Amino acid sequence: MTNPVQSFYFPPGSPPLPRIARADGPYLWDTDGRRYLDAASGPVVTNIGHGNTRVIDAMKRQLDACAFASRTAFISDANAELAEKLAALCGPGLDACFPTAGGSEAIETCLKFARQVAVTRGETGRWKVLARNPSYHGSTLGALSVTGDDEAEAVFGPMMAPMPKFPAPFTYRVPDGETAEAWPDRTLDILEQQILSEGPDTCLAVIVEPVGGLATGALVSDGAYYRRLRALCDRYGLFLIFDEIMSGAGRTGRFLAADHWSDARPDIVGLAKGLSAGYAPLGVMMASRSMVEEIAASGGFLHGHTYVANPLSCAAGVAVLDETRRLGLIENAARMGDALTAALERVAASSPIVGNVRGKGLLMAIELVADKATKALFPLEVDITRRLGRAAMQNGLIVYARRTSRGVFGEWVMISPPLTIDETVLGELETRLADTLRAVVSDLHSDGHLAAA
Ligand SMILES: Cc1ncc(COP(=O)(O)O)c(C=O)c1O
Repeated sequence: MTNPVQSFYFPPGSPPLPRIARADGPYLWDTDGRRYLDAASGPVVTNIGHGNTRVIDAMKRQLDACAFASRTAFISDANAELAEKLAALCGPGLDACFPTAGGSEAIETCLKFARQVAVTRGETGRWKVLARNPSYHGSTLGALSVTGDDEAEAVFGPMMAPMPKFPAPFTYRVPDGETAEAWPDRTLDILEQQILSEGPDTCLAVIVEPVGGLATGALVSDGAYYRRLRALCDRYGLFLIFDEIMSGAGRTGRFLAADHWSDARPDIVGLAKGLSAGYAPLGVMMASRSMVEEIAASGGFLHGHTYVANPLSCAAGVAVLDETRRLGLIENAARMGDALTAALERVAASSPIVGNVRGKGLLMAIELVADKATKALFPLEVDITRRLGRAAMQNGLIVYARRTSRGVFGEWVMISPPLTIDETVLGELETRLADTLRAVVSDLHSDGHLAAA
């Protein structure tokens, strides 16, 4: 029987996905007893691994005390504690916290908050949020309007106000006539031209993923890029929004990826995923208390959901942050990130189809190519990312694999294990990934999509 949710994504008659039975640490078991090493933390979520008893106990205590109390009637200790811890972790200028039920809601909150601050200041003409192409900022219509994904825009474009896009600063593949060294800076020339042609007084913000997720395959730029981005926002009076839904909560080896570039601080940040590590649905917007006060003084934030600041999710978030600190997971992400990079470089060196390894900390991706010398893409019908994803599952390994933007910018899979990973688990990950790639290459040889070496 096909699973009710799976049936939305796959044609009728597709084989069902395995059925989950239990999970512990970085491992999951299906109901047939097969074990999987999760090399992607789900969709980059389960930062502290499964079955953490301290988090489960903290959630039980909150459930016993009160599972839900509406923000319209009560404040909660869990919300206050989460806000206090996040303000300390995010630092000056990001000291106010608005909890949501996930990443898309957090990004919606960032967009609407920025707009309402501008309106409160009398800058009512500012509403355009410039974003990169490709990018992913969420699936609700507001978050989708700043998402650079031609495929989604073709379907949902008429229902939203698609926002101006500027190119993502890829360096592995650059447009004809460009160089890897110069292209990131050129993309910011394009951004500046766009701000000028749209009219700076109509532009509200720029949103970027400081370290990319699935849309760019963990794309990361150098400090000069982020500094110039910050300077452009300052020059034209735009907010800089960092989408750290995936890159935040310690995944890149700092609490925020923004912390890698301390002289390019964002004004507003969205966090989710690893923040509650899958124990409960949670996202947050972080912004400055002074902006919150401006909005509050003008009548209050015109935005909210039923599950805003719900005590159970906030309690899960607090417990995950406590565990992140107790277990030294941010430091581990930095240390094991270097080890993972080295492992992926070894895998790439031994595989004819891994053209590029990139990312930061434990937010990494490998880009798949049909020919390393020419960087040629596989034909779309090969469906290389899903093929690799399926082969990995057969091999007891989970990678995060989905084609973005019809593959026009390249195809990659995310390798982003839990921040609890140690050398032994990393060794298993490397072996299983190398075995999986060998199996895929052998298949590609058999069906003629890869010439024999
Ligand atoms: C960078 C980024 N932003 C936003 C989102 C949306 O988060 P959610 O799926 O929790 O709504 C995601 C989800 O993958 C993401 O990776």
